[in-house]
Amino acid sequence: MTEPLLRVRGLRKVFEGDRPGSGLVAVNDLTFDLRQGESLAIVGESGSGKTTTARIIAGLESATAGEVQLDGRPIAGPRARRRRGDRDIQMVFQDPFGSLDPRQRIGSAIAELLSVHFRLSKARRLTRVAELLDEVGLDERLAAEYPRSLSGGQRQRVAIARALALEPRLLILDEAVAALDVSVQSQVLNLLIDLRERRGISYLFVSHDLAVVRQVSDRCLVMCTGELVEQGQTADVLDSPRESYTRQLLDAVPRPGWTPRRRSSADAF
Ligand SMILES: Nc1ncnc2c1ncn2[C@@H]1O[C@H](COP(=O)(O)OP(=O)(O)OP(=O)(O)O)[C@@H](O)[C@H]1O
Ligand SMILES: [Mg+2]
Repeated sequence: MTEPLLRVRGLRKVFEGDRPGSGLVAVNDLTFDLRQGESLAIVGESGSGKTTTARIIAGLESATAGEVQLDGRPIAGPRARRRRGDRDIQMVFQDPFGSLDPRQRIGSAIAELLSVHFRLSKARRLTRVAELLDEVGLDERLAAEYPRSLSGGQRQRVAIARALALEPRLLILDEAVAALDVSVQSQVLNLLIDLRERRGISYLFVSHDLAVVRQVSDRCLVMCTGELVEQGQTADVLDSPRESYTRQLLDAVPRPGWTPRRRSSADAF
């Protein structure tokens, strides 16, 4: 057995409330592995703890208990991560506006990241910016543009380019295509599929969209109120779910022939 790239053991996150004992358990005793080169999806209804899990793994949030290791070494928590500037795990969010400075041109935003993390000559840095834009299917002339003049799909490609600039081993995508129109969404998904083949990068793919999950992931985890309820090969889980929660999640997805009356009252999501 080869060592997994990511090892998560007994992960727990409690968000403390105003009063003692009023905390909310967002993630409870979550254990899983992600193999080198694998694309693993996390699915589950809204509030099931997907983003919280993703943010802890990305080092953006601290865990209440449990362990997260990359290549057998504990990942850095939020404070250490800021200090050391770890590159191995990067995250792409649903709304790329949040991570793009509206006053900074696309090219200089990427160049700035490169200068923080790599020692490159200015010429080499500019070449690298052009290469990265090309890698995500954008014309290098977009480097001179500001985020507001880009389409949603282009902005998400820039967010992916910025993540790739740091040469991560694990890319976490949290609802990264959820805000895109269907046709743009499938282009960005194809890009992600290509990138994984080309770079051998691993994905942790958080999505509520099961059609998307089927397209991009090898395996999936199903979460319900912070707990792992089922995991397996994506096609197996989606085609023959073992748990009733997963079946309800699947039944809640409109399909051809779906009518509201066919939903049972047990489908609370
Ligand atoms: N910073 C926070 N402070 C307090 N509670 C939080 C915080 N972040 C998340 N939560 C709560 O933790 C639970 C899990 O939230 P999380 O965002 O991880 O769910 P999710 O599965 O990503 O949902 P969605 O599909 O809506 O994005 C929710 O009940 C949420 O309200
Ligand atoms: Mg979320």
